[in-house]
Amino acid sequence: MNVIDLIKSRRNIKIFKPDAVDPSFIQLWLEAAAMAPNHRMTEPWEIYVIGPETRKKLNHKTNFGNAPMVMAVLSRHGATKVETDENATATACFIQNFNIAAWSEGVGTFWSSIGISGNNRELLQIPENYDLLGVIAVGYPEEVPEVKRRKPMNEKTKYLP
Ligand SMILES: Cc1cc2nc3c(=O)[nH]c(=O)nc-3n(C[C@H](O)[C@H](O)[C@H](O)COP(=O)(O)O)c2cc1C
Repeated sequence: MNVIDLIKSRRNIKIFKPDAVDPSFIQLWLEAAAMAPNHRMTEPWEIYVIGPETRKKLNHKTNFGNAPMVMAVLSRHGATKVETDENATATACFIQNFNIAAWSEGVGTFWSSIGISGNNRELLQIPENYDLLGVIAVGYPEEVPEVKRRKPMNEKTKYLP
């Protein structure tokens, strides 16, 4: 599949098959994700792979679509708000890189902001100087949702003189 078709066919997967994803694939996609652009090479991302005990306590209403693997993605604060925002932007690029790399092998991802609220920060042991950008569930899709169409980009493009 070419890169345009790959990007356009990715969906946020809500229901997964129980089949495990080969850890060597996960490692490969994490290394690819880490090639995300990041200003001043801060590499602000950290991954916490969520084990069964912690996952139960998170009490997500669909148990992350029964995905075989769930991970939290953290982004380190910078010395200023600008740097913290830049780091979060870089970490979002990291997540999308991971999602696209996984999708290239038919593995789906569910980007959820569940962990950002309530006592989930505590359960996930997120240090003070980190933002939690999302909890990403990873697995083979049981269902691939219909495409959610976007507005045409010519409605969102402005040409400055
Ligand atoms: C920062 C962020 C947080 C998200 N949090 C959730 C979430 O908590 N629950 C959820 O169902 N989807 C979540 N999503 C996924 C979006 O809802 C999804 O990408 C959007 O509906 C478009 O669908 P698509 O990715 O399949 O094209 C999140 C996406 C992003 C970027």
